[in-house]
Amino acid sequence: MPAMSKSTNITWHDGDVPREQRIKQLGHNGATLWLTGLSGSGKSTVAVAVEKLLLGRGVNCYRLDGDNVRHGLCDNLGFSAEDRAENIRRVGEVAKLFADACVVVLASFVSPYRADRDRVRLLHEQAGLTFAEVYIDVPLEVAEQRDPKGLYKKARAGEIKNFTGIDDPYEPPTEPELTLRTAEMSLDDSARAIVDFLQHQGIIL
Ligand code: ADX
Repeated sequence: MPAMSKSTNITWHDGDVPREQRIKQLGHNGATLWLTGLSGSGKSTVAVAVEKLLLGRGVNCYRLDGDNVRHGLCDNLGFSAEDRAENIRRVGEVAKLFADACVVVLASFVSPYRADRDRVRLLHEQAGLTFAEVYIDVPLEVAEQRDPKGLYKKARAGEIKNFTGIDDPYEPPTEPELTLRTAEMSLDDSARAIVDFLQHQGIIL
């Protein structure tokens, strides 16, 4: 569980710009698309393709990627259940801020625990922001065969402990807004499905 707040004697300070005005001026709303799935499932690859499509349409979007944020914001965290929870908590808070700023966030994290993802969903819902879980669904055998970083091989050899799917759990979403089976569909189709979803939700025009 994430640590309790130690911040005391603090007061929220509202701005003078209503969200509606921000949306009108920027031409689209913000949202967090939360891509979850095994390492090697294709989360980052899909996010990169969606980013290209969205920026091509003039939509301000930004990728938050597990491997990337662990180089900075989360470089003091490992892969225990507690550290993963803190990783997702921190990134969830960042995603919420971006979404509030009308940015479309493409968050790609293994995020293996349902409770961690649900907390991020709640955080967004409480702020009136769209949060959508995108389950990047591939069989473990496919992810392991792809093994783009050679990590499954190391995990099987016992060189990496607590590797998701090998000796650590992955809890699939029960009601994801979107499921993309990247072993059965093209990258183009996966990316387009996310863009279509954003359009249907009225986040982008
Ligand atoms: S999460 O579980 O906390 O959401 P995150 O998405 O940030 O994980 O980081 C996952 C990436 O870290 C994987 O893509 C992989 O490259 C690397 N990694 C290193 N060790 C592990 C591990 N034990 N389990 C899963 N991924 C790992």
